[in-house]
Amino acid sequence: MQALALTILVGTMTGTAQSVAQEVELALDDEHTRVKVVPMDGLDAGVFAGGGLFLVCSSTYGQGDVPDNARALYESLKTARPDLASVRYGVIALGDRTYAETFCNGGRRFDALLTELGAKRIGDIMLHDASAGTLPEEIAVGWAREWIELARERARRAA
Ligand SMILES: Cc1cc2nc3c(=O)[nH]c(=O)nc-3n(C[C@H](O)[C@H](O)[C@H](O)COP(=O)(O)O)c2cc1C
Repeated sequence: MQALALTILVGTMTGTAQSVAQEVELALDDEHTRVKVVPMDGLDAGVFAGGGLFLVCSSTYGQGDVPDNARALYESLKTARPDLASVRYGVIALGDRTYAETFCNGGRRFDALLTELGAKRIGDIMLHDASAGTLPEEIAVGWAREWIELARERARRAA
């Protein structure tokens, strides 16, 4: 079986999403899955050229915005509007329910935009609530183990 290549794109302000992405990498990277963690800093829509499998791991700031290091990528996708039909993706959205109106909107915004551009989401979005007292790394690793099985199943069906 050919190894799946997974790129985790990280949008973060204070490092939580980066730490989550690293734990997911540790949990998933093996002979069946090659995982690469890439901070969104300086990226544009070109990161999706050629398609593939992606996890968007992003927190939420301001009025339900994507973090500062994710802004250029988000705006580039909105402007360039590439056809992302060959992209499969999942979303790990970090937020805080104290911000009731904008809970996890950073990740949700990426999800809406990627779907709009033709990318296919695998599974449900993972939402983490910082006010719940649970560890985002722990929740994300459990979620990602199931998610990667779904991705594998899709890849098998598409082969
Ligand atoms: C100034 C500030 C604004 C925030 N705004 C939101 C928000 O609008 N919606 C939300 O769900 N979470 C919001 N959060 C919570 C963060 O997204 C959450 O704590 C996240 O885990 C931080 O991850 P990071 O360290 O990767 O940036 C905000 C946090 C701060 C400090």
